[in-house]
Amino acid sequence: VGREITTIEGLGSPESLSAVQQAFWQEDALQCGFCTAGLVVSTTALLEGNPEASEDEVREACAGHLCRCGTYHHVFDAALRAGRELGTARREGGGR
Ligand code: FES
Repeated sequence: VGREITTIEGLGSPESLSAVQQAFWQEDALQCGFCTAGLVVSTTALLEGNPEASEDEVREACAGHLCRCGTYHHVFDAALRAGRELGTARREGGGR
């Protein structure tokens, strides 16, 4: 009661990717895409509260996801990139 659930469909669109989705694309952080929705949602949840999350914090936030393609380093790079962009946008008064 009183909670909100956001799925991958609630984050951006093909025409307007969220900052995290854009960073995943830029960092080549997916192969088959099976795990991508969950990783994007978890990364987004982390960065909304802490855009300056460290790599260790990103790893912990993503710990419940298994990527059979082994894109973890790209995922972590994407999360850190998105965090930098979100932190900059937040400081400049921008949004998601
Ligand atoms: S990209 Fe294939 S399982 Fe993660």
